[in-house]
Amino acid sequence: MTPHSSHANSPLPSASIIGTGSFVPKKVLTNADLERMVDTSDEWITTRTGIKERRIALPTKATSDMGAEASKRALQDAGLDASRIDLILCATVTPDMPFPSTACFIQKKIGATGAACLDLGAACSGFLYALETARQFVATGTFKTILVVGAEKLSSVVDWTDRNTCVLFGDAAGAAILQHRAKGRGILGTVMGSDGRHADILCLPGGGSKHPITPENVKDKLNTIKMSGKETYKFAITAMQNAALAVLKKTGVSAEQISLVIPHQANLRIVESLADKLGVGLDRCYVNLDKYGNTSAASVAVALDEAAKSGRLKRGDLILFVAFGGGLTWAASVLEW
Ligand code: ACO
Repeated sequence: MTPHSSHANSPLPSASIIGTGSFVPKKVLTNADLERMVDTSDEWITTRTGIKERRIALPTKATSDMGAEASKRALQDAGLDASRIDLILCATVTPDMPFPSTACFIQKKIGATGAACLDLGAACSGFLYALETARQFVATGTFKTILVVGAEKLSSVVDWTDRNTCVLFGDAAGAAILQHRAKGRGILGTVMGSDGRHADILCLPGGGSKHPITPENVKDKLNTIKMSGKETYKFAITAMQNAALAVLKKTGVSAEQISLVIPHQANLRIVESLADKLGVGLDRCYVNLDKYGNTSAASVAVALDEAAKSGRLKRGDLILFVAFGGGLTWAASVLEW
């Protein structure tokens, strides 16, 4: 009996991912393009982050447009009609608007008329927070089929004159359909945590009740991402490592048993330090941040879809998801594919 197989005897019903999808805009913004916009270089961006290019959505497109496209692809992958979705859970920090929820707009665009809809905000940890929230609804029998979306249009909240942040982010959406399974497979366990004492080191201060949209606040650029890069980096290294080790311990799975680590795609150096700590080669970590940069809540969802579609996942493989983000927040899950 493998350590994780005890899950099959768990009284809780399993929640399995039965389909995935993703969408990235066509427009590519390369490091060379950024060299013409701010005082930066391809060499600096590549060596400090590993990012080579990112995708930028059309001005006419909103987060829900990307989320809906990723969702349609996930439904197709699962062979499911949108009418079967009971709940749409959208993780995002760049909603179409404060309300209604982006999940409601996705619902309208995919025709999931029978679904309840809500958004969830945990920044870059958002997709994993949403996946675990969905799992709890499935486990209690409240909902049977849940569409979990991570979607961001970060280009709309980036200060394109701030080289400290504008080189890091991109736009994308990913989706996964979680469904009740009688036994076995699915999410084996999750750890999540937050530390609100450090809320100000990575935030988007404007546009909410604290700093509403006023000409003064826009002039002060409060409607764009503010980040203390070094502090965020230090936090990320520790949070990713601790969350990964904690979820392995919780699920009784060893790092050697993990077929693929799917980390939040913020910085290659952060992924490398995670791989180092776990004692797994970088070849067992999925990396696409070179192509897309940091897409916050979309990052893990897009990476999962790409890994699945490119044949890197076989049935029964154990996957370790790990993420950190503004909040500060962190989360990690082990999933049997
Ligand atoms: N091009 C050239 N120089 C730059 C750039 C740039 N794009 N950006 C910053 N610099 C300069 C800085 O001004 C600094 O110059 P100074 O020493 O004269 O002041 C110098 O480069 C070094 O800056 P550091 O902060 O020491 O660089 P570091 O090695 O820490 O890398 C980075 C910076 C890439 C931002 C790193 O700290 C990092 O990845 N942090 C984590 C960021 C992150 O993941 N954020 C997203 C979180 S997810 C979410 O919830 C949205």
